[in-house]
Parts: sequence; C-alpha cells; structure tokens
Amino acid sequence: MTGRIKVGLIGIGNCFAGLIQGIEYYQQNPTQEVTGIIHDNLAGYGIHDVDFVCGFDVGENKIGKHLNEAIYEYPNMVDWIPKESMPKTDAKVYESPALDGVGLWVENRIKPIKSNKTDEQLKEEIKTVLKETGTEILVSYLPVGSDKVTEFWANICLDNNIAFVNCIPSFIASDEKWAKKFEEKNIPVIGDDIKGQVGATIVHRTLAKLCSDRGTKIERTYQINVGGNTDFLNMKEQDRLASKRISKTESVQSQLATRLDDDQIYVGPSDFIPFLGNTKLMFMRIEGRQWANIPYNMEVRLEVDDKANSAGIVIDAIRLAKIALDRGVGGPLRPASAYLMKHPIEQMADIKAKEACESFVAEK
Ligand SMILES: NC(=O)c1ccc[n+]([C@@H]2O[C@H](COP(=O)([O-])OP(=O)(O)OC[C@H]3O[C@@H](n4cnc5c(N)ncnc54)[C@H](O)[C@@H]3O)[C@@H](O)[C@H]2O)c1
Repeated sequence: MTGRIKVGLIGIGNCFAGLIQGIEYYQQNPTQEVTGIIHDNLAGYGIHDVDFVCGFDVGENKIGKHLNEAIYEYPNMVDWIPKESMPKTDAKVYESPALDGVGLWVENRIKPIKSNKTDEQLKEEIKTVLKETGTEILVSYLPVGSDKVTEFWANICLDNNIAFVNCIPSFIASDEKWAKKFEEKNIPVIGDDIKGQVGATIVHRTLAKLCSDRGTKIERTYQINVGGNTDFLNMKEQDRLASKRISKTESVQSQLATRLDDDQIYVGPSDFIPFLGNTKLMFMRIEGRQWANIPYNMEVRLEVDDKANSAGIVIDAIRLAKIALDRGVGGPLRPASAYLMKHPIEQMADIKAKEACESFVAEK
C-alpha cells in the first residue's frame, strides 16, 4: 500500500454524492466486484485509499456542513446509501466565490449564500483550509458554464501546488496557455469534461469510429441527451453551453477519417425532463453510405444513471493524478486526459488512450 490520497472537491452536487456513496457502497459490500474502473489496484492505490478532506460550494444549505451531510442536501438526489449509514467525516464544506457558477434556471434551487466576503478574502480562507487539510488534488464538479470559477480554482491549484482534475467543459488542461502554466510549475492536470463509463460520448465516438474504420462514408449524425437533474436544468441556458457543445462534438469528430461539415453533425444536451432525475437518455443516429453508394443508418437509445457513469471515471482520474504527484510528473497528463475526458489536449482512439494509461501506470 502506497498511502492515502487527500482530495478536495469543488461543487458538492450529484456527481460528488455519487462518487462518495459509491465508495461507501463497496465498503459495505466487500465481496462485490468493483466495476468500471481501470484496475482495483492502480500502482498501489485502491478505491478506498481516497480521503475527501474538504469541499467548496456556494449553496447556503451545504456550506458549514460535514461532507457526509452536505451530499444529501437539496437539490442533490443521489441516495444509494441511506443518509444515516454514511460514515461521519471531519471534512467540511467551505464557501467558494460564486462568480459565474450559478445559472438562471438553477438559482432558486441552489440558493447561493449571500456573502459579503470578497474573492480575495475567500482566496485566503481557501488557502488556509487547503494547507490545514493537506489537500493534494482538487476535483472540479462545477456547473457547466462556470468559466470564471474554473479559472479561479485553476489559479488556486497553481498558487498552492495542488493537482487539478477538471470534470467540466471549461478548458484548462486542453488549453495551451493554461497547460503551459501547469507544466512550468510541474503540477499535474487532467481534463477537460469527464467522459462517462458507458456514456453518450463514448458510445457515439466508438460507433462513429467503427463506421469510419470499416470504410463507410458517414454523411450525418446527431446525438440528443435529456435528463432531469440540476446539471440538465442548468444546460437549458444556451449561453452556458458553448464549450459543452465544442467538447462533445469534437470528441466525435476526432474519431472520423473525414470531418463532417458543421451542419451535418449535432451533438448536445437538449432538454430537461424533471421526472427523469439522474437518469439520462441519449438518442443517437448515424447515416452513411456503403459499397455502391448504398445508404445505411443506425439508431441507439442509451439509458444510464448519469452519476454512476461519471464516478467510476473520476476515481481513476484521482488515482492517476496521485501517481503523477508521486513521480514528480507535471503538466497535462495526456494519456489520462485522452482516456478519461471528452476534451483532452491530445485526442487519441480510446483503445490507444487506455494502453497509454496502462504504460504510464506500469512505468517505474
Ligand atoms: N456523467 C456526468 O455526470 C457528467 C459527465 C461530464 C461532465 N459532468 C459535469 O460535472 C459537473 C457536475 O455535475 P453535477 O451533476 O454534480 O452537477 P450539480 O448541479 O448536481 O452540482 C453542481 C454543484 O456546484 C455548486 N456550485 C455552483 N456554483 C459554484 C461555485 N461558484 N463554486 C463552488 N460550487 C458551486 C452547486 O451548488 C452544486 O452543488 C457538471 O458541470 C456536469 O456537466 C458530468
């Protein structure tokens, strides 16, 4: 065993609730095979070697609470483990600057704290918390469209020598300017925008690559996603969506032998259906031509729990960031980002990205 991994969270929403409750699920069911991760043991780190040491949010009902309580606060809806059986933790939720984190549609659900602290004051408070808790890695689960908050936290990582796992489509690890800053300080960064275990993106890009590799000509394709949690409600605000569309679209385009014209590909979060909760539905269609110009098409409907889908990936991202810290490797982690994220600095075919991750883990 190599030691503990001390992780701080930014955004104590449904994704984090799924991550921490999933770890507890395996704790309470030790004979249950851990599904979906790269390996149980990644260079000595298992899923139970992660300590969540602090959290940051803007919700007035979450700030000041212990993590094991805050994850059940409204509007969160993950309840795989009953609240009373979640082990108590000393780790607490602290205030993060709101900046552009809270969108129009979710404001009266999140109920952001009316703070009179300046960003500079918060920065100092955060610095103290990170030092006292010994945080080594920060994971961002901010809402889509939180570009300014993401930059605030990327700078916190750079100033405090903390690795960054960016699960959202505000581009840091994949942006040359930001990647260089992490490189110069030799701090690992994995991002951007988590790719689910069997999510819409991985299914779409795999099938698109299959059609492309088999020599057919893809003429047009779409992917429509609907869900019923705050993530989907927030994405009703079109202005917050620009980078999400780029991230999802490029993830598919990158797998095609020939890029499609912009008007022949539509990939996007498309609507909020309240009663779906954390269930995400994806509808995908590919149209193309085969031998002798004969047309074909395929349609896929995928139904998944969106939070289980992301948590299994993030537990690997955390462990890969820790391995990089142990080995003194900094800057954007290319194999990890290509395998685990939709918008990495360098896109790779998924199979190649997995092999590159395995080689990185196996390196001494
Ligand atoms: N399969 C997936 O679930 C998946 C895949 C890819 C990306 N993501 C992304 O992960 C992110 C998190 O998803 P979620 O379902 O947990 O969302 P969520 O809405 O449940 O949680 C977001 C949390 O961020 C908090 N927040 C808002 N502004 C903040 C600020 N300025 N500082 C700190 N916290 C702030 C909110 O109060 C809330 O607790 C989203 O951007 C989502 O698109 C999820």
